[in-house]
Amino acid sequence: MSESIIKKTVRSFRKMKQNGEKIVMITAYDAPTAAFAEAAGIDFILVGDSLSMNTLGYADTIPATMDVMVHHAQCVRRGAPNTFIVGDMPFMTCHLGVENTLREAARFMQEAGCDAIKLECTPSTLPAVRALVEAGIPVQGHIGLLPQSVKTSGGYRVQGRGEEEAAELIARAKELEDAGVFSMVLECVPSELAAKITAAVGVPTIGIGAGPDCDGQVQVISDLLGYTEGFLPKHARRFCHVGTVAQDAIAAYIAEVKGKTFPAPENSF
Ligand code: KIV
Repeated sequence: MSESIIKKTVRSFRKMKQNGEKIVMITAYDAPTAAFAEAAGIDFILVGDSLSMNTLGYADTIPATMDVMVHHAQCVRRGAPNTFIVGDMPFMTCHLGVENTLREAARFMQEAGCDAIKLECTPSTLPAVRALVEAGIPVQGHIGLLPQSVKTSGGYRVQGRGEEEAAELIARAKELEDAGVFSMVLECVPSELAAKITAAVGVPTIGIGAGPDCDGQVQVISDLLGYTEGFLPKHARRFCHVGTVAQDAIAAYIAEVKGKTFPAPENSF
């Protein structure tokens, strides 16, 4: 951990938008990965509920519970003590009443030391966003594709393609800004619409599959590092192939043990 890293604040992100400096966010679910991200100079880390697929092995984000999210947020905080960390509100935590949302969000702040929370926003979650901000909890909105709702929306598809859907998303973004979010994620939205939303709101937009004109970008760490060589969403890029490196290393270890060349004398007492 570098002593020179200064943790950013919600004001830093707004200033970066004003100065045209791109904001870079990444997901992390464990301490070592969070430490890598901090050392690399990431602007902020999202403990996304995508951990359900990427770390826990489920098919979607639905099984991630608040207890699991808090546990992983604690790991990420330990790995990246000087980075702004956002805890992702999991399935149903924003649909059982505002009081429940406040209680669950407070766990990210008090038990895991998060700096903010993110929630997938529908019109019905606006009262919760207002109440969280009022309570002193910075909120990052999330609009466009909402993975927690794919069972009702019918799958992972680009949002806001038609005029009506686009107008609705712009209106939703403005409502969120009015409700006090410090930033918002735009997921799987046409680039042109994302640019319009970015110009229409004063808070930073962070895109994933939303083109180059958002104020920042977020990517899922497992995609970026190439944990698997399987399906990769169109919006993602593998910057390296950790999965292949790891598999080759494990295969080499197996071969050395079977071939009786490991442990060598220098590995023995
Ligand atoms: O959980 C997650 O990783 C997310 C990002 C896709 C923004 O919500």
